[in-house]
Amino acid sequence: MTSSAPTVALVGATGAAGSTVLRVLEDRRFPLRELRTLASPRSVGSTVTFRGEELPVAVVEASRLHGCDIVFFAAGSATSKEYAPLVAAGGGVAVDKSSYFRMDPAVPLVVPEVNGERVREHRGIIANPNCVAIPLAVALAPLHRAFGLRHLTVATYQAASGAGRNLVAELAVQEQDDAAGRVPSNDFYPHVLHRNVIPGGWRMYGDDTEEEVKVTQEVRRLLELPELGVGITTVRVPVAVAHAAAVWVELETDADPATARRILESAPGVRVLDDPATQAYPTPREVAGSDEVHIGRIRRDPSREHGLALFVVADNLRKGAATNAVQVAELVLEGRR
Ligand SMILES: NC(=O)c1ccc[n+]([C@@H]2O[C@H](COP(=O)([O-])OP(=O)(O)OC[C@H]3O[C@@H](n4cnc5c(N)ncnc54)[C@H](OP(=O)(O)O)[C@@H]3O)[C@@H](O)[C@H]2O)c1
Repeated sequence: MTSSAPTVALVGATGAAGSTVLRVLEDRRFPLRELRTLASPRSVGSTVTFRGEELPVAVVEASRLHGCDIVFFAAGSATSKEYAPLVAAGGGVAVDKSSYFRMDPAVPLVVPEVNGERVREHRGIIANPNCVAIPLAVALAPLHRAFGLRHLTVATYQAASGAGRNLVAELAVQEQDDAAGRVPSNDFYPHVLHRNVIPGGWRMYGDDTEEEVKVTQEVRRLLELPELGVGITTVRVPVAVAHAAAVWVELETDADPATARRILESAPGVRVLDDPATQAYPTPREVAGSDEVHIGRIRRDPSREHGLALFVVADNLRKGAATNAVQVAELVLEGRR
């Protein structure tokens, strides 16, 4: 840890998203003077591994955030609501993974490949979008710039880890139960996820899941298309890591698939794998662990004027959460130089 580097805290260091922030900070050699790893009272006495050392986990409280230059929040909305404003008031920057500030017009909502310049507008809090909204925005921004985006339809296939470590653990037990011929049970999620596909599990807002509402609002905000028509169904599938989405777009002007493919191939943060004749397309198993947004099955959607279809996959814990947050923090540090 170096002395000119920032003092950083990570709130939620023991969770699915927070523990991935530790891995991404290691991978990207993020400069650190000090790293404070924080969570709830449940974690007192536990440690997390960082750069080969065991760091003790402390309870988040105001005094432990004092003097921090950057604080990553990955502990849910209530914690962000309480502590992120304290970080901002103390002159630090809160990089928030929760949904609490995402639609606050005073808080920039940032995906570096899409609107990284918005980081400069922060007043001490920067929001990270939802783990489906991030890959959709990375995939759609270059198509919108080239052809104009008129309408979006999405069906998601979301991994268990998107709901946190509890669903990952529950899915693993269900898998063992099924293999042993026992009837699996479910405590955390409303249905057994193993050998299943569940179009719910989120809070409902009228007829829509909270996830459907968040993705719609956040994609509109990221692409600066407040009126964009969006049809979306979010679905949980028995995959550990990496969310997939089948995406159909209607564009303002005609986009032949070869041109769209070329544009996506040169877009930041995108990797195209698109040769279905040889079964080459992204899948969650292969994408897990990667920092890019992977796109395949790029083809015309003949059911709509100027329609294109594509399949988008990204690691929800990395680009959907930790990687995006660390990239945002890197932009904050660049701005300070
Ligand atoms: N999972 C994803 O793919 C993903 C993607 C994007 C954004 N996010 C966001 O990241 C946040 C964490 O999600 P997750 O999936 O990582 O959940 P998780 O696996 O359940 O982990 C929750 C973390 O938050 C901590 N925590 C909970 N209540 C707390 C409190 N009152 N004070 C301090 N720490 C508290 C937990 O600490 P203990 O160990 O002490 O309980 C744990 O470290 C959420 O806001 C979520 O929306 C998650």
